Amino acid sequence: MESVVSISNVRKSYLMGRHELEVLKGVDLNIERGEFVSIMGPSGSGKSTLMNLIGLLDRPSSGEIAINSKVINGLNDVELSLLRGKEIGFIFQSFNLVSRMTALKNVELPMIFQNKDRNERTNVATKILKEVGLGDRMTHRPSELSGGQRQRVAIARALVNDPAILLADEPTGNLDTKTGEEIMQLFIDLNKKGRTVVMVTHDPDVASFSKRIVRLKDGEVIGDERN
Ligand SMILES: Nc1ncnc2c1ncn2[C@@H]1O[C@H](COP(=O)(O)OP(=O)(O)OP(=O)(O)O)[C@@H](O)[C@H]1O
Ligand SMILES: [Mg+2]
Repeated sequence: MESVVSISNVRKSYLMGRHELEVLKGVDLNIERGEFVSIMGPSGSGKSTLMNLIGLLDRPSSGEIAINSKVINGLNDVELSLLRGKEIGFIFQSFNLVSRMTALKNVELPMIFQNKDRNERTNVATKILKEVGLGDRMTHRPSELSGGQRQRVAIARALVNDPAILLADEPTGNLDTKTGEEIMQLFIDLNKKGRTVVMVTHDPDVASFSKRIVRLKDGEVIGDERN
């Protein structure tokens, strides 16, 4: 199988004053194309830190990370952000939409950074918004959408550049149970179409939608189960 994420002996420390706080303590993790993985663990165990490394938003202190077989360690910041734009779709608990922009414009945004022309941007964004069930909400601003609809816009935005991986850090954290389940169903559908999905959740019910659960504790992987 093809490795989409390959992490070996990754450590991450933060300098706090004169103290070094080690948050990830030698993590090994391999994720193959088409997997749907949940990352679970107590608050402070390093889940978001790990997601930010996989999502190329940050760099490890040591150890190696490869995305789609490309080792990122030697890349400069520009190369890293280009790779991020191409391979990573990131979804956050708090949606992180631009409030003054319509759903359509929010979804078009990543394509502007990839220099796609206006017609293509609008066509792709329209198609993906329809796919996530928002064909009739494209001109709404985030404040005019429900929480679940906002998360759908964020998912559409994460998909526009056809990334290798969809990363979601607590995607249902701000949603009620029923809306959260609808978002999980959307992830299942995307995964069935071949999309690799990695999400963080505290909620065992949410995690049960995935095919594999990786458990972190104090910056170490303490469990890895498939069902
Ligand atoms: N930029 C930073 N500088 C210093 N310490 C940090 C930084 N980011 C995270 N930490 C520390 O690293 C540890 C892990 O944080 P992280 O956000 O990865 O935890 P988490 O597992 O995602 O927790 P939660 O479930 O609460 O979101 C925490 O103790 C946190 O205080
Ligand atoms: Mg977190």
